[in-house]
Order: sequence, then structure tokens, then C-alpha cells
Amino acid sequence: MSNLDLSGQINGQQFEHLFLNASGVHCQSTTELDDLLNHPAVGGIVTKSATLEKRDGNPAPRYYELADGSINSMGLPNFGYDYYIDYVKQSHAKPTILSVAGLSAADDVQLLHQIQASDYAGLTELNLSCPNVIGKPQMAYDYAGTEALLKEIFAFFKKPLGVKLPPYFDLVHFDQIAAVLNQFPLTHVNTINSVGNGLWVDVASESVVIKPKGGFGGLGGRMVLLTALANVRALRQRLNDSIKIIGTGGVKTGADVFAHILCGAELVSVGTQLQVEGLSVYDRLTTELSRIMADKGYHSLSDFRGKLKTI
Ligand code: SIN
Repeated sequence: MSNLDLSGQINGQQFEHLFLNASGVHCQSTTELDDLLNHPAVGGIVTKSATLEKRDGNPAPRYYELADGSINSMGLPNFGYDYYIDYVKQSHAKPTILSVAGLSAADDVQLLHQIQASDYAGLTELNLSCPNVIGKPQMAYDYAGTEALLKEIFAFFKKPLGVKLPPYFDLVHFDQIAAVLNQFPLTHVNTINSVGNGLWVDVASESVVIKPKGGFGGLGGRMVLLTALANVRALRQRLNDSIKIIGTGGVKTGADVFAHILCGAELVSVGTQLQVEGLSVYDRLTTELSRIMADKGYHSLSDFRGKLKTI
């Protein structure tokens, strides 16, 4: 099993191992980012989405673990753009993805101007999908707004850029967002962000379980696997081949990872399960995925990537 090829590529950058962290989990501090980069089964890292200025995020409690996943309304707590650009500009043995999230379209443009002016040459990912910033809608649900923003950005931004998307739930919406994204030289899409604005009710206390937004928050973990797979699959069927897909959402087992690849993911991120299990999750997932591949006689991810059968 040890000679299996679990690699993927984005914009010619080789990720020797397919696993990343989902932005938001174990990636806020440089210590956490180092932990990830030092783990042999992690192929690269995604930073916590950086805003222009440092943010404390929403009031606690803002993350709650459920039997089958999680609900959170973190509100983009992060150390600010300067902190993360300093980190990714250092020399690292594995690829880095600098995630950025403006609090407005103007912020997005300013962040990307700053990256363009810097000497960072790695991948950047524009988060168009955080559901937890109070009073701010998720940009990627506004197709015209996303198109206008990407037009403005690609007029000056000449470095590798991908976007983080929210989940879509209608085939027409997949068509609409793909038609927008296919106009631009994007390196990748990362799908899905959490399923926005779910609500968990604790019956014993007759209460919500997180404080921000009256208890509404983004859903993650196993309960969103089917939505994540649908988004990876539907976007892989619609996007230009040059736009790679990072599959994020619902990964708990090696079989879930296998399913993401079968739907067309190039790389796979782990969020809630990383939070629950810690870094050892990557060893377990690697073992489970490798066993499935060996049993099926597959040697590399490309043997089955995107080859989901229909009936
Ligand atoms: C958060 O910080 O609220 C989560 C990050 C995201 O949803 O993009």
C-alpha cells in the first residue's frame, strides 16, 4: 500500500499528499500551521481566512459539536492579513494556500492588490462564502456581484487565484455559478464552505447552542457530506478542466475521501473531523483510503478521479 500515489496538482504545484485542512480548523496561528505542514500525511495548508485587520470574531459560545457534525458562527477570528502573508512568504517544504476574506468587495480588491504587490508567489484563495459575519451576505450567492468582482480583480491580479464557494442546492444555480467562474483564469475552487445558517435546538434546555445570530450558524461534518459531494460533482461537470476542485465537507472516513475523488476532487480538506480527532485523523484517513485503493487495484488517485458511474 505504501507505493500508492496520493498526489494532486493545482496550477502546476505538486501536492505530494491529497490532504489539506479546511480553512478555519487548526490554522489560525503559525504554530498550528507548522503542525499541519510537519505532518507527513498533509500535502499543504490553507490559512485561516485573513481579513485586512485582525478580528476577534463573534462572541462565544460560537462552535458546538453535534453527534453527526458541528455548527459554528466563528465570525472570522484571525490575526490579520500581515500575519498570514508573512507566514506564507517564508520558505516551506509544502505548498501553501493563503485564504483571504474581505468584509466587502472593496476589501477583497484591496487584499488582492496587496498580494499582487507582495513577493508571495503561491496560491491565494478568495473566500466568497463565509456565512457568519453579521450583516454580510455570502458574496458567491450573488452571481452578478461575483462576476463583477472577479472582472475587477483579474484586471490587475496576475498570480494564481482560486475561490472558496458556499454550497449550491439547485442544478440551475450550478449552471449559473459555473458560467461566471469559467470566464476567469481561476486555478481552483474550494467547495464547500459550511452549509450556512442552520439551527440546532437543545431540547433539554429549550435553547439554541451558539450565541451569535440567535443561534444560526454554519453546519459542517458528516451531516454535510452529501451536499459536499453533490457540489464537487456538479462543479466538476461544469467547470473548465483547468479549474481544479478542492473537495471540502463531511469527510469522516477513507471511504468519504474516496467518494470526493470519484466526484472529481483533486485534493481533499478535512474540517470538523480534524477538530474532533486532531492531526492523527490524517493517518487514519490515509490508512483507510489506501486500503480501499489497494482492494480495488488502484495505484494513484488519477485511476478513479472523476470517474463516478451513473445508472
Ligand atoms: C468563520 O470564521 O465564521 C468561518 C469561516 C468561513 O465560514 O469562511
